[in-house]
Amino acid sequence: MYNGFMACKRKISIIGSTGSIGTQALEVLEKLQDKFEIIALAGGDNIVLLKQQAQKFKPRYVVSRADNNGLERICSDKENDIILMAVSGKVGLKPTLTAIENGIDIALANKETLVMAGEIVMQRARENNVNIIPVDSEHSAIHQCVKDISQVDKLIITASGGPFLHKSTENVTVEQTLLHPRWKMGKKITVDSATLMNKGLEIIEAHHLFGFDYDKIEVVIHPQSIVHSAIEYKDGSVIAQLGLPSMHIPIQYALSYPERFEGIKSKSFSFTEAARLDFEKPDLAKFPALALAYEAGKTGGTAPAVLNAANEEAVYAFLEGKIKLNDIYKITEMALSSHNVIQNPTLDEILAIDAEVRIKIFS
Ligand SMILES: NC(=O)c1ccc[n+]([C@@H]2O[C@H](COP(=O)([O-])OP(=O)(O)OC[C@H]3O[C@@H](n4cnc5c(N)ncnc54)[C@H](OP(=O)(O)O)[C@@H]3O)[C@@H](O)[C@H]2O)c1
Repeated sequence: MYNGFMACKRKISIIGSTGSIGTQALEVLEKLQDKFEIIALAGGDNIVLLKQQAQKFKPRYVVSRADNNGLERICSDKENDIILMAVSGKVGLKPTLTAIENGIDIALANKETLVMAGEIVMQRARENNVNIIPVDSEHSAIHQCVKDISQVDKLIITASGGPFLHKSTENVTVEQTLLHPRWKMGKKITVDSATLMNKGLEIIEAHHLFGFDYDKIEVVIHPQSIVHSAIEYKDGSVIAQLGLPSMHIPIQYALSYPERFEGIKSKSFSFTEAARLDFEKPDLAKFPALALAYEAGKTGGTAPAVLNAANEEAVYAFLEGKIKLNDIYKITEMALSSHNVIQNPTLDEILAIDAEVRIKIFS
């Protein structure tokens, strides 16, 4: 049982330390060396960077994709007080569940885990008394705004709109798609941001994290990415969380929750520099992925897992130049319409359907 930063350092491992979230988390931890001890780092294929990180941060051990059961080893290591789950895609699900079963708190960046199996993950977290603290800036914003969730009527999730907000999405290149106007992120989430599927995955994530019906989760386009999300209380009062578009803050918040440290803060937010904040409704005709995600979320059962698997495979196909950006939606929509939804699926059923969708999708 962790007794707080005053008593001892918080012991942490990072799954996905070589990625966008992982490297930013290490920048945070570099500033908070007196508060944290790193138990393990896990990366995928970037062995050079993983080695450099190991030399610099001196974790007790590292694992890479090549290590069989490496992620399971870290997530069942009860030395950890908290694990940052910063892999992209379905890889995050099993290790997250292992950590939960071992009573280890999770700082969750990997939204796909909750999209695939949100009910099971949240249920097991409750049973094991495990905190799941969101890293996604929108969910972190909501987490920071909420005092008493039972008094909240609506969640308002903001979206930058991605690189094609006011441009055509026809025949765009991979390079154009990866040029996100506000955030520098891994490739998968950057493509998802361009199609607004990222926001679709986020509403499903929010549904599970905060227990809200989908008609109480609103998406608003906010190109400046200053308001990271908001909540509306029953009496109409709206509380928003603001800040510069940097993942350092939500990462640090999740790792140090419920305490706050100066840590990575470099400058104060200036309202006058931010100057103007624009908001608009999302164009669901141009970005149908968002409507598809709402539909999959409302359908529930295995539908979100199918949405996630089909989208993930289609995104990788797009990145490899095999399909166009707008085909991602078409492929995902087809996978969902040909799927017979199972309600209240077991974990095995979810994993089987996930595998089946990925095999069938381009066959
Ligand atoms: N980036 C952001 O700003 C941001 C914001 C909000 C939420 N998120 C979410 O956070 C998650 C991570 O996003 P990201 O942008 O950081 O992705 P990323 O840059 O692609 O990083 C993914 C990380 O996972 C590692 N990895 C992949 N497969 C692995 C495996 N089998 N075993 C161990 N490590 C493996 C990669 O290792 P190698 O690189 O060494 O192969 C890399 O360290 C996603 O779910 C995303 O939606 C990201």
